[in-house]
Amino acid sequence: MPTKSPPLSAPHLWAVLLAAGSGSRLAQALAPAAEGAEPTRKQYLDLEGAPLFWKSARTLSRVQAVHGLVFVFPPKDVERMAALVVQLDESESLGLPWRICAGGARRQDSVRLGLAELPEDCSGVLVHDAARPFATAALVRRVAQALAGAALAAIPGLAVTDTIKAVDNNNVVVDTPDRASLRAVQTPQGFLLAPLVAAHQRAQAEGWEVTDDAALMERAGHPVVIVPGEEQNVKITTPADLALLSAPLNEAKPPRTGWGYDVHRYLHPNEADPKVLAQARPMMLGGVAIPGGPKVLAHSDGDTLLHALTDALLGIACAGDIGQLFPDTDQAFANMPSAVFVTEALRRVRAMGYRPVHADLTVIAQIPKLAPHKARMAAQIAQLLELAPGCVNVKATTEEGLGFTGEKRGLKAVAVVTALPG
Ligand code: CTP
Ligand code: MG
Repeated sequence: MPTKSPPLSAPHLWAVLLAAGSGSRLAQALAPAAEGAEPTRKQYLDLEGAPLFWKSARTLSRVQAVHGLVFVFPPKDVERMAALVVQLDESESLGLPWRICAGGARRQDSVRLGLAELPEDCSGVLVHDAARPFATAALVRRVAQALAGAALAAIPGLAVTDTIKAVDNNNVVVDTPDRASLRAVQTPQGFLLAPLVAAHQRAQAEGWEVTDDAALMERAGHPVVIVPGEEQNVKITTPADLALLSAPLNEAKPPRTGWGYDVHRYLHPNEADPKVLAQARPMMLGGVAIPGGPKVLAHSDGDTLLHALTDALLGIACAGDIGQLFPDTDQAFANMPSAVFVTEALRRVRAMGYRPVHADLTVIAQIPKLAPHKARMAAQIAQLLELAPGCVNVKATTEEGLGFTGEKRGLKAVAVVTALPG
């Protein structure tokens, strides 16, 4: 039977994501920032509504072999970035542990400091430039697999198409290496941890200057294998590369559909228990008061329809369910208008880069008669979702006297929301 788990020899991998550079080549070439203001570092540029570095974090975290992530930021940004990563992780969980540390003056210093943050049980590392946001999960897997095999060091590389010249300080050519033997290398670069840490220590002690970690391993005498790189895995370096950030990414996001369901009990006419009576709320549906309806038992305002809508939105955001977000054991949510839940779920949908475009909802109840209220509920929900009135539909039905709704013991509601990226 095929197995998904890596071979026993596979190292326990974490990734170090380098985002501590100053982006000086890009900044120099762009218009100078306003007096006193610092130019935006390239790793913070916007890509699909999130900072550039987040794209790589997402990609790395999607690979099963990667067990955690160390973010390396410029020392004076660490605090601000820690708060931002918490926020990003909340709206779109990476699903793995992460740590943050300050980088150093040179790239190799940032790597060394990042390695020092790795947990004890980590035995292998993928070092990745945040400035390469287009690396795919397939590439990360390829590097990880090489490490799970025999490799001590594995890096992605591409054959070069230009002839490459070596020049002296006066720009005079001193050598033309055979193109067939050249590779342009990328990140993520994968290493077993112990030899990489040792190589960094030697570099520190002996003053080696390198531009990638593989070079340290080479100097320390370790073999470094090349795995096929990716054309699109460019490093954002100069203004010409910025066009890549605004071009739509290859992996067009598909639309999403969220579905929600909720049930509430009605207050029994003969109920005497004060605890139950304390939970009785006047009927609200879709943010609209339904006069004459039975009282609904709830912790919040008991708006069954908005609860179903909240769950549908959370479905789009892949953010769990309403009970997780707003536990009914939390006094803060007692008697809470359910519009608050909808608004928070909507914020999460947007944080994921989606916008709802349509909602279709159904209330299932034997009593009261809801037909007179449907249009107002639809209008209210459209307003909450910031949609045009024609984009929300509310239906009402009975279950023909069957089940708990038929016995007038409670009501249920379902909601379906469609969202598009953007
Ligand atoms: N990097 C880092 N710490 C440094 C220098 C670089 O973490 N002291 C990171 C960068 O943030 C980037 C990656 O290493 O993700 C590759 O470096 P590079 O493309 O050279 O970025 P910068 O050094 O920021 O840019 P520049 O060289 O133009 O200043
Ligand atoms: Mg640099």
